[in-house]
Amino acid sequence: MIRHISRLRLTAFRNYASAALDLDARHVVLTGPNGSGKTNLLEAISVLSPGRGLRGASFDTLQAQGSDLPWAVAATIETDDGPADIGTGALPDGGRRVRINGANARSIEAMSDYLRVLWLTPAMDGLFSGPAGDRRRFLDRLVTTLIPGHSATVSDFEKAMRQRNKLLEEDGDPRWLAAIEAQMAELGASIHLNRTDSLTHLQALIAQSLDDTSFPAARLSLTPLFEDLVEPATSAELEAVLAQRWHGLRPLDRAAGRTTSGPHRVDLDVIHAQKSMPAALGSTGEQKALLIGLILAHARLVRLRTGIVPFLLLDEIAAHLDPDRRRALFAALDGLETQCFLTGTDPVLFEALEGRAQQIGVREGRLAHRG
Ligand SMILES: Nc1ncnc2c1ncn2[C@@H]1O[C@H](COP(=O)(O)OP(=O)(O)OP(=O)(O)O)[C@@H](O)[C@H]1O
Ligand SMILES: [Mg+2]
Repeated sequence: MIRHISRLRLTAFRNYASAALDLDARHVVLTGPNGSGKTNLLEAISVLSPGRGLRGASFDTLQAQGSDLPWAVAATIETDDGPADIGTGALPDGGRRVRINGANARSIEAMSDYLRVLWLTPAMDGLFSGPAGDRRRFLDRLVTTLIPGHSATVSDFEKAMRQRNKLLEEDGDPRWLAAIEAQMAELGASIHLNRTDSLTHLQALIAQSLDDTSFPAARLSLTPLFEDLVEPATSAELEAVLAQRWHGLRPLDRAAGRTTSGPHRVDLDVIHAQKSMPAALGSTGEQKALLIGLILAHARLVRLRTGIVPFLLLDEIAAHLDPDRRRALFAALDGLETQCFLTGTDPVLFEALEGRAQQIGVREGRLAHRG
């Protein structure tokens, strides 16, 4: 059976006061005018995974304005082991909780036992030429889809780093500083190895499937953690080197007012493989196609390594593709054997999907099956 969402329920989520949708295993096409709630619905599905969802928004902005109820998203996932009820929603402290089959989940990551989610949105259009931070977050999202704990490791690292920056500024106790640098080193080594591991596997899979994809292939690499650093082979060695580097960089970092190097500064280099050209130099359409190829390859990788095919959330992708590429995309989505959610303002864009998708109309925060 194809893993799929059979029922979705939103409460006080963005422009949805309350909405419910029953679905079968086919793809889901959401169409409606600008501002009707298409992207919001994809965002609701995206928060059924670790992290802050496809807008990276803080949880309190998900709250429907003018509603007294706390926001909540619930989904029934059909799996080979039967249905599972997954829900997440606001906690009074601004955080969120997760419920699985009627009980509080032991962690946010526990959702990943039932579903994984990947997305492409118009906000990612300038990814290859935009700021490094966006590419790093994109990479970390890919890694999190493979290694669910990665997202929490990244935020723990950032928390520790803010503490280090504060201690440097206040000229705090050097022993305390060393303890925090040790913690950063442990988290940082883990972040770095998660990233390099994931990229190695992704690159191998891209190389294998060069001939059977209509989308360009990417060559991916990370910029160095530190200039002039020869990367140690083991995690323990990397940890030791990181702690040592940060210790040595204290005067410089104190003057700069921040931690100047480490995994939080690494960039993802992307090359259009067939053209041997930096991705940023491609045309708008080429960059889009490269990004689609990357997401499709990653979805296959997640399936291969975890046995769970991610749900794909594709916000306004079809509109940018010529009819041939669009057909190729739809064929690739079918090949993944997962439920894909696609949005657009015009149902005509999805005609080539014919009976392979269910059509949902979105209007002012209300959902209805079409036709
Ligand atoms: N917290 C919130 N409470 C209520 N409404 C919100 C909230 N956040 C966003 N909205 C509104 O939800 C509406 C739908 O937004 P959404 O991004 O889903 O539209 P869309 O259908 O994707 O439109 P487009 O075709 O322009 O991309 C917008 O009018 C937006 O202002
Ligand atoms: Mg939208």
